[in-house]
Amino acid sequence: MSEIEVLTQSTPSIIVDHVTKRFIKRNSHSFKEAFVGWLRGRKVRADSFTALEDVTFQVGEGESVAVLGFNGSGKSTSLKLVSGVLEPDEGIVLTRGRVAGLIEVGAGFHPDLTGRENVFLNAAILGMSRAETEARFDEILEFSEIGDFIDQEVKHYSSGMFMRLAFSVAIHVDLDILLVDEVLSVGDAPFREKCRVRIQQLAETGVTMLVVSHDMKMVEELCERGIVINRGRKIFDGPIVDAIDVLKKSRR
Ligand SMILES: Nc1ncnc2c1ncn2[C@@H]1O[C@H](COP(=O)(O)OP(=O)(O)OP(=O)(O)O)[C@@H](O)[C@H]1O
Ligand SMILES: [Mg+2]
Repeated sequence: MSEIEVLTQSTPSIIVDHVTKRFIKRNSHSFKEAFVGWLRGRKVRADSFTALEDVTFQVGEGESVAVLGFNGSGKSTSLKLVSGVLEPDEGIVLTRGRVAGLIEVGAGFHPDLTGRENVFLNAAILGMSRAETEARFDEILEFSEIGDFIDQEVKHYSSGMFMRLAFSVAIHVDLDILLVDEVLSVGDAPFREKCRVRIQQLAETGVTMLVVSHDMKMVEELCERGIVINRGRKIFDGPIVDAIDVLKKSRR
């Protein structure tokens, strides 16, 4: 193997390097509360909460990696940092290629637009041209099973319908990295199964994946490697079976 091949083989798609993310925790939420507090001479404190601390990992091209952890451990925060929705306070996050995230159900969907309009809007956000979206529109619609509702405003959709359309758009764009956060928990069983098959197919075609799920069976099927996060710190990174074991033996 030549040196160049070795280099390209080891080129990571995702680099998360010594990343720390803090959130401001205010003890006063509204202007009124803050004002009343100020009148009473109370100081408006803003404590910071460290959601992720010094987290480092890399994901190689075509690899599927699970991020495991209890509620509030920092999984969604990690995916949002990789997608660029959030910026780290310390450290560096780098990605290579087109990133599509199924992170917050329907994020980027506008309630007053119809399903059809939202498909075009979202596809554009994910970097697709109008012509590209038009060419794939029928496929997107068919996968979503939205049917005639496509021309209704999405504020009238059920949460499952919303999610199906958002998911359908994301998996029909050309993507290099797919971030999946618990989306499969929203749809009904037949749709979940269809998504599982589709995600598996994408993984097999070489899409790099970072998957958050509490469904250990699915994660074990899809990912060869697992990263365990506990209270914002990475406590394990290795084979998925071992990662699941570490999670089971750890405490919230
Ligand atoms: N925008 C925000 N502002 C303030 N705190 C936040 C924000 N987003 C997340 N947090 C806090 O950061 C911590 C990690 O949240 P995160 O959503 O990453 O957890 P998670 O591992 O995805 O949990 P779950 O399994 O419940 O989805 C939580 O304590 C949460 O309250
Ligand atoms: Mg989460």
